[in-house]
Amino acid sequence: MAENKILLAYSGGLDTSVAVPWLKEKYGADIVTLTIDLGMVDLEAIRQRALAVGASSALTVDGRQELVEGFLFPALKAGAIYEGVYPLATALGRPLIARYLAEAARSEGAYAIAHGCTGKGNDQVRLEVSIAALAPDIEVIAPIRDWGMSRDEEIEYAEARSLPIKARDSRFSVDENLWGRSAEAGELEDPWQEPPEEAYSWTRSVADSPNDPTYLELHFEKGAPTAVDDESMSGMDLISHLNTLAGGHGIGRVDHVENRLVGIKSREIYESPAATVLHAAHRSLETLTLSKEQVRTKEKLAQEYAEIVYNGLWFTAHRQDLDAYIASTQRYVTGDVRVRLHKGSCVVVGRSAPDSLYQYHLATYDRSDQFDHKAAEGFIKIYGLPVRTQNQVQRD
Ligand code: ARG
Repeated sequence: MAENKILLAYSGGLDTSVAVPWLKEKYGADIVTLTIDLGMVDLEAIRQRALAVGASSALTVDGRQELVEGFLFPALKAGAIYEGVYPLATALGRPLIARYLAEAARSEGAYAIAHGCTGKGNDQVRLEVSIAALAPDIEVIAPIRDWGMSRDEEIEYAEARSLPIKARDSRFSVDENLWGRSAEAGELEDPWQEPPEEAYSWTRSVADSPNDPTYLELHFEKGAPTAVDDESMSGMDLISHLNTLAGGHGIGRVDHVENRLVGIKSREIYESPAATVLHAAHRSLETLTLSKEQVRTKEKLAQEYAEIVYNGLWFTAHRQDLDAYIASTQRYVTGDVRVRLHKGSCVVVGRSAPDSLYQYHLATYDRSDQFDHKAAEGFIKIYGLPVRTQNQVQRD
């Protein structure tokens, strides 16, 4: 067994492909790669590429179901959206990637884990904080942060070693998983410039989206979506289905200048069609099924939860405790939500729940009204008492 093994988180892109020979040369180690499918990944093609650039073995794992159940749905139930717009796709994927890396490093007997993050982003923090939590004995190496090569130098490095890589013409730095796509860098770095159409790939522009709306009925069980138009689906299929449908209507585009954990502001383009629809629908179902106080407390916790996820603090008791509270709030968040997808917007047009707190006989203005109008008089008198008192006594 090789004593000198490094496990590399391998995406198949230029950076991590160059990292294979670089790590091998610098550390004299065998490189085992791990590629994780969190959606939109051709595992076998990437595995072949890893071997072609010199990995001694190339592992793969399909993490999609785990991503959905362990990370995306808890975040959906929490209503976690960073800075009001970002559903946290990249950020939610990182702790799961860290967990798979820690597990694989152990089972492979690797002394170090390497990843392809730069020194400016959030992802290095998320991965390293998580790896340190799960596998404190394993070293972390960040070649891209260490080597200081420009993109052109990386290409030269790869050519000098005849690595079979095709440097994709990527004007942007892109990360994607089932929950969404993030694009940054290139011309997007000028926040005054409108993003070019090519920055988007999951969504149609509003101009190109269909003239006719699509109506959908989403079913939720205890806060998790389980069916679309009466067809039960796995979380994974449901999210993919909504990404296609809502993306086709131009839904889920976000253009945001964001506050990174490392102190920089950066301009980010996000596409999250399914997350946009699901958050809207879920929030609407909660308006029927939660009390005013529960909704308000949840709103505050949603922000807290989003910060935790964004800031790489998934593996903390604080996150676990919030999850326990949130899970408890979802006991009656079961029912159906009708949404209209049209020209870049997702609008909730109907909602119903077997345990709805909305009571027609209390709300109605028609004859079947059962609200006690007489009692309102006394209520107002007592409720307004401190207001009257203060205005009588302190008149300035
Ligand atoms: N800014 C986002 C985040 O921190 C997305 C990062 C995406 N990474 C990338 N290489 N494009 O969650």
